[in-house]
Amino acid sequence: SMMNRGRRTRRNENVRRMVRETRLSKDSLIYPLFLEEGSDIKAHIDAMPGQYRYSPDRVHEIIDECLEHGINKVILFGIPASKDSVGTQAYDEDAIVQSGIRKIKEEYGDDIYVVTDVCMCEYTDHGHCGILNDKEVDNDLTLPYLAKIALSHVEAGADMVAPSDMMDGRIDKIRKSLDEAGYNNIPIMSYAAKYASAFYGPFRDAADSAPSFGDRRAYQMDYHNRREAIKESLFDANEGADILMVKPALSYLDIIRDVKECTNLPVAAYSVSGEYSMIKNAGKAGLLDEYKTMCESTVSIYRAGADILLTYYAMEIADAIKRGDIG
Ligand code: PBG
Repeated sequence: SMMNRGRRTRRNENVRRMVRETRLSKDSLIYPLFLEEGSDIKAHIDAMPGQYRYSPDRVHEIIDECLEHGINKVILFGIPASKDSVGTQAYDEDAIVQSGIRKIKEEYGDDIYVVTDVCMCEYTDHGHCGILNDKEVDNDLTLPYLAKIALSHVEAGADMVAPSDMMDGRIDKIRKSLDEAGYNNIPIMSYAAKYASAFYGPFRDAADSAPSFGDRRAYQMDYHNRREAIKESLFDANEGADILMVKPALSYLDIIRDVKECTNLPVAAYSVSGEYSMIKNAGKAGLLDEYKTMCESTVSIYRAGADILLTYYAMEIADAIKRGDIG
């Protein structure tokens, strides 16, 4: 007789759910939100069907929608009306993200947890993530700017900052500047292992942040490398990061697992614009079932070791968990 029958624990939904190894919660989902300077704006992002840019006066529409689905965490990106070489609109106290945060916090207070993306690429006229020296992004020159951006977000009311620039030493710099200003309780979620990726394509349309020359390979990571992700993660952990992020997610499941195993910090994964748009558009074209593909790919990210997921599908995933289709 056969002793080993794997199918015994797959016979019906009850037993399948009992032996499930990966459990999901909507509490771990963060929804990325694009804020555009101006008023009365709800502009569809064509590269990301179903996603919109909102001006601060209309941002309550999308936040209400999030809360209805049980999503109470957002990460904010800003689209300023003007750009310059030093990204002034990234740290001006009345700039788009700062005024957006104040608006959101006035209306919702602690009902919504506000994370901000700290970077310069949406605010510089050259589209790079830092200050240029000749044609190169100057790491050390950029650090004080990043610290200034992070501090301005926190002063406006942000609950957490998430630097995505990939400059060396930025976590240390941001941590010290927040602490000196009395914000030692504000956590930093570091984009620790951020790869130079074609999957950011739709985002760069959404945020108008494509570099005007060259690419980001001199600061974002080379996708051939795995151990380097551990190196980067340990750097950031040692500098005081509270959460480590891997980005993108789907082509980087091995990296998520590696980072999970090399630290005791919570691990976040960012399922980026290209991942969203691929599934969305393949679904629209009738090539695959959008909902089922979303469910399967989401679970794979958690199965790899993610504790937290940043995703444009946050609301749909929360619904899927509630229905019991996943989690
Ligand atoms: C940089 C930043 C980017 C994303 C998040 N933060 C773009 C980039 O590095 O080019 C990408 C997010 C996505 O593709 O969904 N500010």
